Amino acid sequence: MRAIALGADHAGFPLKEHLKAWLIEQGYEVVDCGTQSSESVDYPDYAAAVAGAVMAGKADRGVLVCGTGLGMAIAANKVPGIRAAACTDAYIARLSREHNDANVLALGARITAREAAVEILATWLATEFAGGRHALRVEKLAALDRAKERSDVPAR
Ligand code: RB5
Repeated sequence: MRAIALGADHAGFPLKEHLKAWLIEQGYEVVDCGTQSSESVDYPDYAAAVAGAVMAGKADRGVLVCGTGLGMAIAANKVPGIRAAACTDAYIARLSREHNDANVLALGARITAREAAVEILATWLATEFAGGRHALRVEKLAALDRAKERSDVPAR
């Protein structure tokens, strides 16, 4: 796993740049999906770009940064196959990998300091999916994606 798609809106742009430099320093290939300045933009556009890069196999995983991480996670999770987790500490980042096999990490630049964001990202990248009982649950997530594509998401 060497290629990471990276995206941010204006609120996340400075942190994205910081994480980009860190990823490159660690030897990762970065697919930078923007934005490239602090000029106001709409987070769903960048969530879609990163989610698309992951689903197209242009990146192994994705990292998104907005003000809270929430808008990016909500948007990315609308793309079938994406399991985006908004993480505020290394513990939840580890569990998002072990239990949920999260393939996109969402971070909030307005709530997470740079050093903490790097710690969260490093933990998230280093943690493998635990499989076992979690594999069936992740398969059920994929089944929800398939149902959504057939437009018959169950009511309960
Ligand atoms: C932008 O002001 C802000 O709404 C956005 O970065 C993000 O926090 C949305 O969830």
